Amino acid sequence: MLQITTLMMKKIAIINGPNLNLLGKREPEIYGSETFEAYFEDLKKVFPQTELTYFQHNNEGDLVSKIQSVGFETDGIILNAGAYTHTSIAIADAISAVPSPVIEVHISNVHAREKFRHHSYLSAVCVGCIVGLNLHGYELAVRFFLKKS
Ligand code: DQA
Repeated sequence: MLQITTLMMKKIAIINGPNLNLLGKREPEIYGSETFEAYFEDLKKVFPQTELTYFQHNNEGDLVSKIQSVGFETDGIILNAGAYTHTSIAIADAISAVPSPVIEVHISNVHAREKFRHHSYLSAVCVGCIVGLNLHGYELAVRFFLKKS
């Protein structure tokens, strides 16, 4: 039974980009006052049957390498690439290069903010996008991957 559960357990990787290590301290009126580490602990409790992993890095190349390394072995990637969303062709290419579907998440409603945040290099190569629903967007993305066959 344990073996069957393990075999059916979905693997979902959360990847956060630059400055998202500062959640809780960074512009709390936009990003809230909870750290991602605290949120992630709660998220794991909501989905005990799911193998959830979390990675954060401030460098573009490290995000590309992480997408490459998990992108062949996970059922889904939830990616908040932070400001690289609006600049990075390299991250878009990494998403296209791997078979794992990727959901783009933004904590804030980027479309209600500065114009330079309205364009994403990533949206077109992701299965979908969740913006402006605060940290709740990550949980909704997990739910999508769990429902998806
Ligand atoms: C963000 C939005 C980006 O424009 C910004 O550069 C971030 C955070 C968000 O989650 O709302 O760093 O991705």
